[in-house]
Amino acid sequence: MLIVANWKAYVEDLDKAKKLFAVSKKLTRTTRVSIVLAPPAPLLSLFAIGNKSKVAFAAQDISKTAGGAQTGEVTAGACEAAGAAYVIVGHSERRALGDSNAVIVEKLSRAYAQGLVPILCVGESERDGGGRYLAVIREQLMHILKSLTPKERAKLIVAYEPLWAIGHAAAQAIDANDLTEMTLYIRKVLAEFSGKNARSIVLYGGSVEPTNIRALAAGSNVDGFLVGHASVDPVVFKALVQALH
Ligand code: PGA
Repeated sequence: MLIVANWKAYVEDLDKAKKLFAVSKKLTRTTRVSIVLAPPAPLLSLFAIGNKSKVAFAAQDISKTAGGAQTGEVTAGACEAAGAAYVIVGHSERRALGDSNAVIVEKLSRAYAQGLVPILCVGESERDGGGRYLAVIREQLMHILKSLTPKERAKLIVAYEPLWAIGHAAAQAIDANDLTEMTLYIRKVLAEFSGKNARSIVLYGGSVEPTNIRALAAGSNVDGFLVGHASVDPVVFKALVQALH
């Protein structure tokens, strides 16, 4: 199982970041869970450069530009140089700030060009009774998948993050049956492009906490989780990873 800890902008001081990194290193030694930490950009290199532990690192986002005269942009190249192996692309909090599907496609191509593995977030904003949410996910995926080469598709990690489930307590997360349905559906759409034998990594994110992670993992066919608020407290994060283990 893979846990991607999306620190968002919750972690702003070095002490806290150090504690979270220390706990994560220990957990990769004592459990079979793989951990990827996604710190805010300025903190990334402090931990990721020269990192010899089993913990890997992700950027939370990258610029769609290739660099140059682009004040304030954090490019894929800079993230790669800072030690990131992964990058989260298309998170709903970035989509809300203007990342359209077209922008996401540009960001993905920057990520691939630098050898970063993209974690593409998809998710519907609401659950309707008529199954429209399935069409929303299909549309988001199709738009991206059709622009990728087969090699790129094979590397893509998909994180299913329904917007209505993000940032709440465990009770508001998706239930295990609905997650199973959605994981199957996402795999079906991926298979339409990549063939039945290709198996992409599919993660779930949205109010994953120590109390619900085990139930969400059991039988849902997900390969892991993208975790926000429960990944930024060392005690809670340790409990979360151990619950999965
Ligand atoms: P959450 O965030 O775990 O706080 O719901 C998940 C995410 O947005 O990646």
